Amino acid sequence: MNIATDVIHAERYVDPTTGSHVTPIYQTSTFILHDFDEAVRLNQNIDQGFVYSRFGNPSVKEFEDKIAYLEHAEAALGVASGLGAISTAVMSLIKAGDHIIFGDVIYGCTFALFTKILPSFGIEYSIVDTTDVEAIEKAIKPNTRLVYVETPANPTLKISDIAQISEMLGKYENIKMVVDSTFASPYLQNALDLGADIVVHSATKYISGHGNVTAGVIAGSKKDIDKCRMPFLQCFGAVLDPFAAWQLVNGLKTLAVRMEKHCDNAMKVATFLQNHPMVDKVYYPGLKDNPGYETAKKQMRGFGGMMSVDIKGGIDAARTVMNNVKVFSLATSLGNVDSLIQHSPSMSHFDMTPEQRHAVSIFDGQVRLSVGIEDSEDLINDLDQALNLIKR
Ligand SMILES: Cc1ncc(COP(=O)(O)O)c(C=O)c1O
Repeated sequence: MNIATDVIHAERYVDPTTGSHVTPIYQTSTFILHDFDEAVRLNQNIDQGFVYSRFGNPSVKEFEDKIAYLEHAEAALGVASGLGAISTAVMSLIKAGDHIIFGDVIYGCTFALFTKILPSFGIEYSIVDTTDVEAIEKAIKPNTRLVYVETPANPTLKISDIAQISEMLGKYENIKMVVDSTFASPYLQNALDLGADIVVHSATKYISGHGNVTAGVIAGSKKDIDKCRMPFLQCFGAVLDPFAAWQLVNGLKTLAVRMEKHCDNAMKVATFLQNHPMVDKVYYPGLKDNPGYETAKKQMRGFGGMMSVDIKGGIDAARTVMNNVKVFSLATSLGNVDSLIQHSPSMSHFDMTPEQRHAVSIFDGQVRLSVGIEDSEDLINDLDQALNLIKR
């Protein structure tokens, strides 16, 4: 089927007792077992049934099966947040003494996990421009076990070539590639098809679509996902709640229509902003002069709804825009039906030093837009009136 049909119908669970059209929420922490032998068997084979919701839950399983289907993965694992997905996936692949490589533009808290927390567990790291495959290869050491790529990258929308990186890594044994595909959603990009070993999403974003859930998901081979589930997620405990999973399954049903509108609106907004006298630069991979345009065209089904914008006049001008928009809301997060604006240096990327940010074009006068699915003309007029309030 086409993905627009799959987001609604794939792996749909029909309740066998009532035929309920929408899957019931299995809001339970534990499951009654028929007898002691079943208790022993299920505890040793969690694939065969449900024992305890930290190990698995039917509402969560429906979400996991749907994501596995949409990401062309053998299996998926629902987690309590995007960072929960990233930390679980990464920790399942490395141990003390290992070395990891990650991109110079990634979500701020992921950057903090890799630079502030993992080193205290004996993990070395190198930060490279992951759009440059040679730079990644040069950074590989005998103890490298992971290359972590975020594409499109938050907040400057850098596009890394997943297939090219995977092909290069094919020469090395024991180096896994994890891709954070949050900005694309499974609708616009399937990283596993391009050679990644594991794909992670903050499901808080496009997968939910409505800004009412905090969640994450990991997809990959059954072997890798089984290891993430047991013992990692079982012991870390950042599991997905059944109600959140139920909301995510409902959110997924409109993923196709939402993503089409996000892409269409973002292209119009980016084109408008590119020609605005108060804008220095627009970072949107759908613009032909963007360095990631060709790669994005090759590996994505659309350019997405996210962009960053350098406002002329620095932080004061950016403040004027953020304080005066009326349709856009000043809020972090992204991928919601409604449009959001944020200041990446002081919000999503506060964990980086100013020097680290400036080196990768996250400038003080930069705002990040999550373009929603409202009327595009209303969004453009809103940004225009706020930009025109800047004192020249
Ligand atoms: C690209 C990316 N990955 C991961 C995360 C973390 O997701 P969560 O907030 O659901 O933990 C975010 C959050 O903004 C993000 O932008």
